[in-house]
Amino acid sequence: MARLKLGVLVSGRGSNLQALIDAAADPAFPAEIALVLSNKADAYGLERAAKAGIRTAVVSHRDYPGDKAAFEAAMDATLRQAGVELVCLAGFMRLLSPWFVDAWHDKLVNIHPSLLPSFKGLDTHQRALDAGVRVHGCTVHYVRSEMDVGPIIVQAAVPVLADDDSHTLADRVLAQEHRVYPLAVRLIAEGRVRVAEERVTIEGHAPDGSLALINPAP
Ligand code: GRF
Repeated sequence: MARLKLGVLVSGRGSNLQALIDAAADPAFPAEIALVLSNKADAYGLERAAKAGIRTAVVSHRDYPGDKAAFEAAMDATLRQAGVELVCLAGFMRLLSPWFVDAWHDKLVNIHPSLLPSFKGLDTHQRALDAGVRVHGCTVHYVRSEMDVGPIIVQAAVPVLADDDSHTLADRVLAQEHRVYPLAVRLIAEGRVRVAEERVTIEGHAPDGSLALINPAP
């Protein structure tokens, strides 16, 4: 069966991109990366892609001063030319306009370093520490025009430890990001993810209802 063609959008280090590259290296993985697109020519993610022999493109927002629509139209055209079927935001640091988000409705996913809908936006780990939550995590979700909003596909939770700072907590969450992003993409590529009334159901999924993360452990 044909593998789902991914376009991965990065602005920086690209560790989530790397997790997707590694997953797709397995021929049994039902998706492949057709294109890695960055708005920054010096994004380390582009080097990761090149090393893996994956096609890359740079569409810089600086080439479209004051014209966000033209910047996004150039990205849209580049993705479509590459035959991309699912766009994965992986540390892509530009907010996308409603027209772009609508053009890729249910074909555009993001990974966010918190258990949404808590801690939308930036500095999620420090804000989780400041709020004193005992459980934190990450979310893969479909993108809607409001930032960090959209049907949730997969979440992973981690404990917050007494001596955590934002870096140790970020590392613990990031390790889970690298598991859940390939998982979410696999479920989508297998055609098992349905969105109805802005909620996701996963076909053929029998969750273990006894699984719980309790912190502190009882
Ligand atoms: C990750 O924490 C991701 O959740 C957020 O941006 C960061 C990107 O990291 N959206 P990387 O570039 O994938 O290493």
